[in-house]
Amino acid sequence: MKIKPFELERYFAKYEFSAPYLLSCSDCEPLNMSELLSMADPESLQLWNNLTLAYTESQGSPLLRAEIAKLYKNITADEIMVLVPEEGIFLSMNVLLEKGDHVITTFPGYQSLYEVANSMGCELSRWMPDKDGKFNIQNLFELVKTNTRLIVFNFPHNPTGESISTEELNEIISFARQRNLFIFSDEMYRFLEYEDSDRLPSVSDIYENAISLFGMSKTFSLPGLRIGWLSTKNQIIFQQIAQFKDYTTICSSAPSEILAIIGLRNKERIIARNLEIISINLAIIDEFAKKHSSIFKWRRPKAGTITFPELKLNIPVDEFCKKLVDEKGVMLLPSSVYNYDKECIRLGFGRKNMPEALKLLDEFLMKLLKK
Ligand SMILES: Cc1ncc(COP(=O)(O)O)c(C=O)c1O
Repeated sequence: MKIKPFELERYFAKYEFSAPYLLSCSDCEPLNMSELLSMADPESLQLWNNLTLAYTESQGSPLLRAEIAKLYKNITADEIMVLVPEEGIFLSMNVLLEKGDHVITTFPGYQSLYEVANSMGCELSRWMPDKDGKFNIQNLFELVKTNTRLIVFNFPHNPTGESISTEELNEIISFARQRNLFIFSDEMYRFLEYEDSDRLPSVSDIYENAISLFGMSKTFSLPGLRIGWLSTKNQIIFQQIAQFKDYTTICSSAPSEILAIIGLRNKERIIARNLEIISINLAIIDEFAKKHSSIFKWRRPKAGTITFPELKLNIPVDEFCKKLVDEKGVMLLPSSVYNYDKECIRLGFGRKNMPEALKLLDEFLMKLLKK
């Protein structure tokens, strides 16, 4: 199999562990071991202390899946497959698609959500936001063709922080059901909505031909565990994914499974912490955007840890980001890593040191504007 480089991940590989400030991260301030273990209840602490480092169950530990199932209304522990989030995308696309199938994906987007299909010889269409930044469902419906097999979307959306309403989601599902279309719903930023009323149901809970993806990386501040999961009511697809997984990771890391249980059992606490960091940072970005309104096309996101403002500068955004990281040590992602032709940057606000990094960006801009 030949696949194009994952531009965003290659960019992170270059700077993530060398740049002193990361102003584009999509995770929430990662927890450290002592913080996480201090939240453990006696049962999970005992599991941790007595853990044998053997292989684990391929589908994921039953105890972990029982915790995960609590995040859903209709999905049971048997309908959950534990894996690495990125692996979940790879396996789903391989199982759902064949060469020549037509796939519609939200765009710009996390590259694997369309690149795996592209590498398999599928035909792709982009569901893009309107001029006002909203994903209009009528535009999605107009993209459907006779060979459409799959709709892929990601709400809350990476990179814009946009979402749709529950009514719109229900319309998409009725549309897909009538035409026998599969849905892959990337829900990696679920529970990071700033208003509870903006939270969508998990698509796997309400549509029988959907696969939903979620995990510990963003909402739960534990990306280093490499634990995520797929949920689906479709047993045929589920079994095919289980078989394919024997060729990727087979099963998850034993320590990570226990740590994920601890994270999930402390869901409310971790999410409240993260929403507080986000809310403090967003208020600072609001002020920054006001100050730089001649440069930043600012639209406040609805959820998550990232947004994608357009920049009106007299230098290309790639060059701007390169200069910023070279001179100030602040890493920003340019829109070229999303293969997107507008001049945007991805701004991340889930980390505690975001105000410091933003201050350096402010200094850099002030100097640039004086020139
Ligand atoms: C929308 C989306 N889906 C999937 C992933 C993959 O998650 P992970 O890196 O934890 O495998 C990411 C990570 O950034 C993401 O933003």
